[in-house]
Amino acid sequence: MGPPGVGKGTYAAMLSQAFGIPHVSSGELLRREVASGTDLGRLVSKYMAQGELVPDSLVNRVLFERLSKPDCRRGFVLDGYPRTLSQAEALEATFPLDLAILLTAPLEVVVERLAGRLYCPACGEVYHEKWRPPARPGVCDKCGHALIKRADDAPEVVARRYSEYLSSSKALAEFYERRGKLFVFDASGDARVLCPRLVEKIEELLRGKEVVKL
Ligand code: AP5
Repeated sequence: MGPPGVGKGTYAAMLSQAFGIPHVSSGELLRREVASGTDLGRLVSKYMAQGELVPDSLVNRVLFERLSKPDCRRGFVLDGYPRTLSQAEALEATFPLDLAILLTAPLEVVVERLAGRLYCPACGEVYHEKWRPPARPGVCDKCGHALIKRADDAPEVVARRYSEYLSSSKALAEFYERRGKLFVFDASGDARVLCPRLVEKIEELLRGKEVVKL
């Protein structure tokens, strides 16, 4: 959990590698529905383009379908889901989490991160013009596709996404705090330096619980 641009996708990809479990991003699953032109994609595209939350029933449908796949049986790292109390309640009743990590960073840091973000529409890889540039400018290192700026990274849409985040984040954090599952992590520094510390902390917090590790 955390505001737009705080690094949820960046950390989730690193944690997925460290723990050998899939990275499941609600934003990425929804963007793929839109790009494939499915009925669901048509329904959700107008919310996403305006920086508004997609209705819970639609997001839950996509997420639960993904989490029911065999590769999620040993666990998964969620990114951007749950986002509302109702999503958290539905998730807890079906796929209860071990831990909910809230990433934090000052507003000016997340604005700079989103302004420089580059995205590969083919494989979903994320870059940053300054912090994580691709080897060849404008080209994805992983699949060779041309990189783009996400349409919802336009400043006026970022402002809407940020205010959506503020309106639901407190209740969500309290939900997991009451269950003893909340861990708040300052993500304002360099993710490559901070991620090994986060992995250590997760292992410490989950010690004694049955958690997968490669
Ligand atoms: P989603 O794709 O989840 O967007 P978001 O939450 O706004 O988060 P972002 O993907 O923008 O940022 P991030 O925190 O993952 O940062 P990243 O790692 O990319 O959702 C998009 C839309 O889908 C929503 O607006 C909504 O419409 C819909 N939606 C999704 N989930 C939903 C749900 N559950 N319910 C309802 N609607 C939903 O990093 C950002 C940039 O910074 C990158 O360029 C990265 O390289 C760089 N960076 C990251 N960390 C660092 C660092 N430590 N140092 C320097 N640069 C860094």
